[in-house]
Amino acid sequence: MKTQGQSLKKKVLAAFAILCILFIGIQFYRPEIPNPPVVADFTGPANVKAIFEKSCYDCHSNKTELKWFDKVQPAYTLVAQDVKEGRTGLNFSEWGKLAPGDQKAKLFEILNQVTTGTMPLPNYLALHHSAKLSKEDVAVLQHYIAGLMVEKVEDTAMINARSRQQAAKVNKMTKVPVTVTGVPYVDGYASWDIISTTDRADNNTMRVIYGNAIAIKAIHDNKINPWPDGAVIAKVAWDKIQDKEGNSTTGAFKQVEFMIKDSGKYAGTKGWGWGRFKTLNREPYGKTTDYATECINCHRPVANNDFVFTLPIKQ
Ligand code: HEC
Ligand code: HEC
Repeated sequence: MKTQGQSLKKKVLAAFAILCILFIGIQFYRPEIPNPPVVADFTGPANVKAIFEKSCYDCHSNKTELKWFDKVQPAYTLVAQDVKEGRTGLNFSEWGKLAPGDQKAKLFEILNQVTTGTMPLPNYLALHHSAKLSKEDVAVLQHYIAGLMVEKVEDTAMINARSRQQAAKVNKMTKVPVTVTGVPYVDGYASWDIISTTDRADNNTMRVIYGNAIAIKAIHDNKINPWPDGAVIAKVAWDKIQDKEGNSTTGAFKQVEFMIKDSGKYAGTKGWGWGRFKTLNREPYGKTTDYATECINCHRPVANNDFVFTLPIKQ
């Protein structure tokens, strides 16, 4: 019995020794994490930048600063991989290379990642406690980014002028069009504030998302999960026309869609009235009430966000 116990001990020791040798051995395997020069660093407000530096720059800039425990293998290989992938999708040291619209889109994405707890990477936070975002940090980011999104986009005037011009060509509506689910067309949306614009290369449309006064106030007060009753969000799509210089302008009006918040009246459709009106004749979309299910299903990925894609700020 005694000899068996000893030989087991020896085996354990030998295995441990092998592990130690392997552990030391892999320390020599060191993929490079170069820090290329910072060419066009992020230039937002100082408090916003400080948050990114504290929590994101290790993986999303050319100023990666590793702690000693990051340099111990096998952690080091994982960190090197994170930095490489992180910089590919978002590099604050090359921020200035992005077109203004792309910067906005990135910030929007950042807000999404941060408010859902996807970023900073949770396994990184386990060791880098100081990178954890406080509630105040998140509020600072929300405030800054929400402010940018509500700001009127440069070509708003052009878009509105075009929209009015087109609207003038249409016969005056004798009565308000209504969908089969009883959702009415909401007149006057073109004079509301713009929440955001999106540009879909896949189907060559330009979209503008407007909010009525209640919706805009809710954004400012950060009370959009759920959105208050009375909030209306409109999404308008035009064909996109690209000129020789690559500038885009709006072509023919395609449709306007509404999400009208009324938690009582529209309780059966997630608290929203869903309406789509096509062409300048505002033809209500949907022969049967099933069409609303189509809207809801496609908006389901943002169910936690009261079914709204735009500005998904979590409380
Ligand atoms: C430990 C490294 C690490 C830290 C710290 C980190 N990220 Fe990331 N991030 C990644 C990696 C890796 C990816 C690539 C996709 C993935 O793995 O999810 C990524 C992807 C992203 C993306 C998507 C980029 C794209 O379009 O591909 C955004 C946005 C983002 N991170 C924002 C942030 C923000 C904001 C912070 C700080 C609050 C942050 N990240 C902190 C590693 C990190
Ligand atoms: C194929 C998927 C899909 C379907 C179907 C769909 N939506 Fe959307 N909707 C989106 C996406 C994605 C956005 C985000 C903005 C963008 O990309 O244009 C959006 C945005 C909106 C917005 C602006 C508010 C927000 O969520 O950002 C409204 C209003 C809207 N949709 C109404 C409707 C209505 C009404 C229907 C049904 C008649 C509908 N949608 C059907 C995908 C869809």
